[in-house]
Amino acid sequence: MLPSHLPDPDLYLPGSGEPSLRWGIVGPGWIAGEFAKALRAHTAQRLVAVSSRSVERAQAFATEHGIEYVLGSTEQLVRHPEVDVVYVATPQSAHLAVGLAAIAAGKHVLIEKPITVTAAEARTLAEAAQTAGVLVMEAMWSRYLPQTSVIRKLLADGVLGNVRAVLADHGQAITADPQHRLYRPEQGGGALLDLGVYPVQLSSMVLGAPTRVVAVGGMTDTGVDAYSTLVLTHERGALSTLYSSLQARTAMTGVIAGTEATISIDGAFYTPTSFTLSGADHFSPTLRWSDPTGLRGFAGLSWEATALARFVGEGRTESPVHTLEETVSIIATIDQARAQLAGS
Ligand SMILES: NC(=O)c1ccc[n+]([C@@H]2O[C@H](COP(=O)([O-])OP(=O)(O)OC[C@H]3O[C@@H](n4cnc5c(N)ncnc54)[C@H](OP(=O)(O)O)[C@@H]3O)[C@@H](O)[C@H]2O)c1
Repeated sequence: MLPSHLPDPDLYLPGSGEPSLRWGIVGPGWIAGEFAKALRAHTAQRLVAVSSRSVERAQAFATEHGIEYVLGSTEQLVRHPEVDVVYVATPQSAHLAVGLAAIAAGKHVLIEKPITVTAAEARTLAEAAQTAGVLVMEAMWSRYLPQTSVIRKLLADGVLGNVRAVLADHGQAITADPQHRLYRPEQGGGALLDLGVYPVQLSSMVLGAPTRVVAVGGMTDTGVDAYSTLVLTHERGALSTLYSSLQARTAMTGVIAGTEATISIDGAFYTPTSFTLSGADHFSPTLRWSDPTGLRGFAGLSWEATALARFVGEGRTESPVHTLEETVSIIATIDQARAQLAGS
């Protein structure tokens, strides 16, 4: 039996007691621009500094987003006395070095997904943060979106029964430019790290770490994974089937199928979206959930920023809904899949 109605989301609403932190951005590229807009429009956080390898680029970004301090290096930004938290928006290959620099300067850090290129690097970051007593969080924005809080409540309440399968895909048609960071091995390119990390984290949230990882797919001429399907086995026989690709845009939906009910998350499942809860047969009524907050697209990046501030205010050193242990485990799954694809 489905519930009569869906639970309300627990929102990371700005102005609900979280500190108004002073943020500095390293890597003023594409996602940093979206983050800056979301932060300014939809949070009580303050964007005060930006650094780039080029002062001109940092200055242009600062002018566009009304940022006070313009800095010419990561080191200057992380050591700036008016920065409380560093948002790392560089390519993944630089996440470890920038993250460690921020931790060494005693700053909290929000690091774009994937947190690092390998699980060993992620472990290094997690250990450094725990030793320093600062908060490190992967910018896995899906975890902080309204729909995710409702889905977690449905899972915790056992509404789905015994979850048997997670199916999710994330394919984008990225121009096959060998200079693009996604095609360059030394920049941590490849579909799995950049896009596949979303399906893998969905599987991890629902079913935990896999007991086995099987990857089938192909590589680009530049030596990164171009497309793959991962089959993950889990305890009690549940399976995750997860597709990612740099070559073709897919529906980007997520399905969580249980013995009593199924959640079908509309594409793009990892962004602010809607979902349907259906019963176990064709004839049951369905329940539809839509995001009531009005925040669409990359405005949804604001939820993770307010969440981080709330966690800092609570004295936490990791996210309670995406722990460092789980973050490392997700990259470890990707490590195994990438090794299989490279060797096949
Ligand atoms: N949450 C999301 O939805 C989302 C979406 C897209 C991307 N991302 C993630 O965000 C990160 C950046 O992606 P993007 O698409 O924004 O890339 P991008 O547009 O290429 O921007 C990255 C910026 O990092 C700086 N940078 C480049 N190489 C660097 C290096 N080796 N060391 C230090 N800084 C370097 C560059 O700025 P300067 O040259 O000025 O220093 C560049 O503008 C990636 O980890 C990606 O996976 C997340």
